Amino acid sequence: MTTLTAAPLSWAMRNGTRREHRAAEGSHFMTALLAGRVDGAGYAAYLRRLRTVYASIETAGRANSADPCVVAVLDPALERLDALDADVAFWAPGSATEGDSPVADLYAHRVRESAVWGGLFVAHHYTRYLGDLSGGQAIGRSLAREFDLDESGKGLAFYAFPQIPRPQRYKEAYRARLDLLRLDAGARSRIVAEVKHAFDLNRALFAELDKAISPAPG
Ligand code: HEM
Repeated sequence: MTTLTAAPLSWAMRNGTRREHRAAEGSHFMTALLAGRVDGAGYAAYLRRLRTVYASIETAGRANSADPCVVAVLDPALERLDALDADVAFWAPGSATEGDSPVADLYAHRVRESAVWGGLFVAHHYTRYLGDLSGGQAIGRSLAREFDLDESGKGLAFYAFPQIPRPQRYKEAYRARLDLLRLDAGARSRIVAEVKHAFDLNRALFAELDKAISPAPG
């Protein structure tokens, strides 16, 4: 049986964080979003938080682009800021692109701190972009149905990766690059722990959104 410490990094990142993935997937906000119970303003509140998070990942990535771990994952084809700006403009025209969110700020701070070592940065990169290329694709299709949007992609640019026509193949290559990194068992387990933390931060973001967009009781 493969143990987490002996396993290739990509295997450990996926299998060592199944519980955290399930928890994020099953969060109340995600369920409400997929069931069509979040309106455009609520969705814009989500996008503004994501913008803060992706700005931190994309800035930290560029600033540390010589680190071998960062080199393994960095790819302009993944960048989401322009897509997020376009979607915020669609859902909340004229509003600020980033919102007042202590959790998004905390998440961004953690990403910036993680960049002291590319391995920790990779944990954050993986959690967001590989998620976007996996369940994120189904979420995008589901939102198109829920919000009754046409095929033009307007409002859902966040889920479109025009330069990545085959996400499955892309993810395989991404995992292969992770597995070629020369990291010892201790380093690999630090990365898995950071992925768990990244999932928890996403869950905290959803919990904050729940509070921000649900009407106050009474
Ligand atoms: C309703 C919400 C979600 C659904 C339905 C969902 C679904 C999935 C599915 C089906 C996969 C496997 C795809 C494959 O094997 O190629 C996957 C992978 C993944 N998801 Fe999610 N997911 C959700 C939420 C999230 C969230 C909130 C995050 C983190 C922010 C996330 C991060 C990931 C990551 C990193 C992977 C890649 C695992 C790997 O291949 O190593 N997911 N998701």
